[in-house]
Amino acid sequence: MEAPIGCAVIGYGPLHNFGWAHSAWIDATPELRLVAVCDLDPARTAAAKEAFPHIRTYNDVADVWSDDEIALVSLVTPHFTHCPLAVQAFEAGKHVVVEKAMCLNVAEATQMIEAGKRAGRMLAVHHNRRHDGNFRRIREIVESGALGEVFEIDLYAGGYGPFRHGWYSEKAKSGGAFYFWGPHAVDWVLTLMPERIAGVNGYFHKLVWHEITNEDQVRATIRFANGCVADVTWSHIATIGKPLWRILGTKGGILDTGAGGNVGYEKQTHGPVGGSLTLITHGEEGRKEEQIPYLESDWGMYWQGVADHLLRGAPVPVSGEAGRRTIGVFEAAERSSKTGQTEAVPYE
Ligand SMILES: NC(=O)c1ccc[n+]([C@@H]2O[C@H](COP(=O)([O-])OP(=O)(O)OC[C@H]3O[C@@H](n4cnc5c(N)ncnc54)[C@H](O)[C@@H]3O)[C@@H](O)[C@H]2O)c1
Repeated sequence: MEAPIGCAVIGYGPLHNFGWAHSAWIDATPELRLVAVCDLDPARTAAAKEAFPHIRTYNDVADVWSDDEIALVSLVTPHFTHCPLAVQAFEAGKHVVVEKAMCLNVAEATQMIEAGKRAGRMLAVHHNRRHDGNFRRIREIVESGALGEVFEIDLYAGGYGPFRHGWYSEKAKSGGAFYFWGPHAVDWVLTLMPERIAGVNGYFHKLVWHEITNEDQVRATIRFANGCVADVTWSHIATIGKPLWRILGTKGGILDTGAGGNVGYEKQTHGPVGGSLTLITHGEEGRKEEQIPYLESDWGMYWQGVADHLLRGAPVPVSGEAGRRTIGVFEAAERSSKTGQTEAVPYE
């Protein structure tokens, strides 16, 4: 394959301007070239053409499949469309980057992985938030061994209020409350803890916001083969919150409140800016507490990783198999919320 690689963004929606963000990341990657943007809505392709005058625009994916200049497509559409669009893209011989959530369930994930393999094309899941500055710093500290053996990971986000957010609030289209922020959180946990998943317990609540079909609060506890337990909660009924991150190890812990510019789409191409986390360690000199600044967020590096894979055989930035494990956790958590039992994750 030769650089620059022709790319199309499919889905240029208004809710988070994320089709724009994908277009900007692709445009900023020297070995990738934004050829086209496709959206069902002509008003959205007009907006894309205004922002990126050099591109072609399409309102039907069939035109993307037949455009020979396009080797790679990026799917930035609602979750329920990811699997069917990815399978069509592979059948047309395109490489695929798919936004999180990868798809609605494990069966769809497997369909996507197999279609990519049959076509001999790349499937990459856009878990861009591995490049968040706070997560990059947390990963660096955990991998340095400064915490000793990590045995507990606690992640929380949410608040109190109904989640009225277009198709995201419709469980049949979104997958449910876990599929909005949850893919980032579970992917972070699985990246920090590369151990077999021994089982998942789920606790789902639907108590207050009956005008939407998503759950009000979802929680998964993931037990790893080495005994580590991770707890991920996303809530729309939490009158009292918790810190974003708390990690405990045998020699130290991390607390990250998430304050200090951690979350924000205002700098789409760069990710979160500023902020710091608390690191507490117990060494030979006793207890030590430090404020550690976040690293730079480098979301654009995901796209350099895509180019490195296609041009030089580097690993896929986030493989379909890695994406499927995250979806497997949601599925097991939902099953467990109904059975009351610990549930296994396929492809653990
Ligand atoms: N990684 C992140 O940090 C992040 C942030 C925001 C959104 N996202 C993800 O991006 C995806 C899109 O979210 P959004 O907020 O931009 O949604 P959105 O509703 O604003 O945009 C989706 C767009 O897709 C278009 N579309 C739907 N079906 C189509 C089809 N078959 N062909 C062409 N266009 C089609 C719609 O017309 C719409 O304009 C979701 O998977 C979401 O979870 C990820």
